[in-house]
Amino acid sequence: MIKFRDEIKDLKAYRPGKPIEDVKKEYGLKEVIKLASNENPMGTSEKVKEKLIKSIDNLAIYPDGNTTILKDELAKKLDLKPEQILPSSGSDEMVDMISKTFINKGDEVIMADITFPRYISTAIMMGGIPKIVPLKNWTYDLNGMINAITKNTKLIWICNPNNPTGTMFSEKELLNFLEKVPENIIVVYDEAYREYVTRDDYPKDNLKLLKKYSNLIIMRTFSKMYGLAALRVGYTMASEEIIENINKIRGPFNVNSLAQIAAVEALKDNEFVESCYRINKEGKEYLYNEFDKLNLEYAPSETNHIFVNVNIDSEEIFIELQKRGLIIRPITGTWIRVTIGTEEQNKKFITLLKEVLSN
Ligand SMILES: Cc1ncc(COP(=O)(O)O)c(C=O)c1O
Repeated sequence: MIKFRDEIKDLKAYRPGKPIEDVKKEYGLKEVIKLASNENPMGTSEKVKEKLIKSIDNLAIYPDGNTTILKDELAKKLDLKPEQILPSSGSDEMVDMISKTFINKGDEVIMADITFPRYISTAIMMGGIPKIVPLKNWTYDLNGMINAITKNTKLIWICNPNNPTGTMFSEKELLNFLEKVPENIIVVYDEAYREYVTRDDYPKDNLKLLKKYSNLIIMRTFSKMYGLAALRVGYTMASEEIIENINKIRGPFNVNSLAQIAAVEALKDNEFVESCYRINKEGKEYLYNEFDKLNLEYAPSETNHIFVNVNIDSEEIFIELQKRGLIIRPITGTWIRVTIGTEEQNKKFITLLKEVLSN
């Protein structure tokens, strides 16, 4: 009999939502809108696409396994050393690599209850023990996380702003938290949605913290605001020692050539980022307004998605909206997560939501 590792016995494979083409076929629909995965509804920068088209001839060559140009460009832009930066195949791969680098069997790993799901699955995969701290008002309870620390704690995951609730904590709260975490415990700060934040008290200028806290790891991605989810590219920053150790378990060519080229180009197109920021902010205000009119409760979002209570079972509304050609993400109880789309997509979502709620 084949024996698999005990640690993966109870893990469930990631179940992606149905592809748009399958939903079209199943319900006989011409058009399906996906507001389920927090992708960029504005697509990708035209400048990035042009560069990619020009780069398509080099596919027979392995990628630069050292991601030299991308690291150098990031280092220049962020005023870090290239040795403090490690690109990955999306933040997903980095969550996996961080867990493999640090978690021994029996280590406790602190995380929130409603947050990015790969934190818990990779902790379990390594034989770690997840210590779950419930959100408070749909926001990270950083004091609760501090109170959950024991002598067995190895690592703490914090996501700011949080997926799926969209909520954030302030720079002051982050600093207060970091001061209280013993320096032998790794803190991973995942800021996949940082580019969307509108509040002034967000820790925007946080790379300086890497100098002060040698246990801090900061993760970013090109999948959201930069519109490169399909290419799989993100990057992580920490001390040279941490990066050197994560790098030991990295696959040799983990970031493909097109992803590297696109990421470098995407960093230059501020105009695209600014317009996506503005459209997202306007979309958020429109959706807030419509939710208010419908008397629906929602968590304040600093991301490109909103966590909203539709007052009926989230699985049920998911199915009803899907039948009508719109895909959202059911989260818990009567709460769903909807990605902020284009103006047209947001209007369509509200029309269909009203239709389902009135039935
Ligand atoms: C909080 C958070 N972290 C990480 C990721 C992974 O992003 P990617 O692997 O596309 O870079 C996501 C994706 O939705 C996310 O929401």
